[in-house]
Amino acid sequence: MIDRRTLMAAAATMAITPANARKKAKAVSSTFPKGFLWGAATAGNQIEGNNTNSDTWFLENIKPTVFAEPSRDAANSFHLWPQDMDLAKAMGLNAYRFSIEWARIEPDEGLFSAAMLDHYKRMIEGAQARGLHPIVTMSHFTAPRWFAAKGGWLNAEAPALFARYCDRAMRHLGDGIGHVLTFNEPNIMRILNAIGLPPKVWDLQRAMLVEAARRTGSAKFTALNAANAEDIEPMQANLMAAHGSGKAAIKAARSNVPVGVSLAMFDDQAIGKSSIRDAMRQKLYGGWIDLAKKDDFLGVQNYERAIWDAKGKAPPPSGGDRGHLGAEVYPPSLAGAVRFAHAATGVPILVSEHGVGTDNDDVRARFIPAALAELKKVIDDGVPVAGYCHWSLIDNFEWVFGYKVHFGLHSVDPLTFARRAKPSAAIYAAIVMKNGL
Ligand code: IFM
Repeated sequence: MIDRRTLMAAAATMAITPANARKKAKAVSSTFPKGFLWGAATAGNQIEGNNTNSDTWFLENIKPTVFAEPSRDAANSFHLWPQDMDLAKAMGLNAYRFSIEWARIEPDEGLFSAAMLDHYKRMIEGAQARGLHPIVTMSHFTAPRWFAAKGGWLNAEAPALFARYCDRAMRHLGDGIGHVLTFNEPNIMRILNAIGLPPKVWDLQRAMLVEAARRTGSAKFTALNAANAEDIEPMQANLMAAHGSGKAAIKAARSNVPVGVSLAMFDDQAIGKSSIRDAMRQKLYGGWIDLAKKDDFLGVQNYERAIWDAKGKAPPPSGGDRGHLGAEVYPPSLAGAVRFAHAATGVPILVSEHGVGTDNDDVRARFIPAALAELKKVIDDGVPVAGYCHWSLIDNFEWVFGYKVHFGLHSVDPLTFARRAKPSAAIYAAIVMKNGL
């Protein structure tokens, strides 16, 4: 029994303890919240192979092209998806994120394929049978070629066309889906524009899009992640409208499924009094943040931090691990991005992607626990985080970089398609199985 003297001593201690020290003393569980979603993420065009009716497939295979190589068979996951889900299950994951491909479901305008919808239905059922919560992306950058040839996301009809696809897909598939993302990183072109791609890349991309338009006999050919600089903001407006129309269609078909969008987000840090950090946040995420306030959750996709000084993105400090293209590997960046995303929107956060492109799996093995330790602190501070999906379950087609860049927890043999776990998969699995660090 606690006596009066003990109580008074405790009260006195509280009174003299500085507020932040009291905060630190707060009891913190060593585990992640019950029901936390532990997942790995993938995307159709990057792993399925032969997505021949997609805009991206078309751009990969014309000349000139910005793509280092075409996706070809990718990881053959169109056929081997049960193996992929088995890998996820073997790691103890309880969630799997994948995209459904609009180009397969509506290969020609207005022609919907029941066979392809059934294919994705089998995937959703396959995930559930393995205890994996299906997190489904409606558009992971790709769209049908016919859609891109009509101007893609610049076309005023785009929001209605996307909504019609969402309606058909959700009516067929909706029952078993756990979470839906309308779009994957619809702000990607803003990011690429802000970090400054070399002019020769913009020129090559423009020439590729001109050739794509010529071949399809269209006035303008654009894709979500391949567009000319002057088209970026007009596209953003249509993508935002399409998020709204797509979400409405999804909710009309399945009112109880949580719907959100995922954004590419840095951990934006300010240095100096005149840092442009806040202006950059507006430039990179503006509009989307307001939309997300009305969504069920926001998907955060973080790989790096950005240090903004008065002029632009400052180089990161030297030393430490590096990823693809020499990117700084900075484990606290995920926590920083999640904190901002929640503070700005007020909605629960789902980490829909986080990872590192590297051939040195030791870097990945260090990065995962270090980043999750920081994410745990954010959760302990009361930020609602529904789950974490590592990018990626398997090595895959990294868009313009082709197969040279590796983000996977498993490697894939390009000829036999055999999957092999990397040591980092076991590191991640151990955290998942403990639901803690
Ligand atoms: O591979 C991509 C993915 O398609 C979208 N987010 C970033 C990943 C790594 O670059």
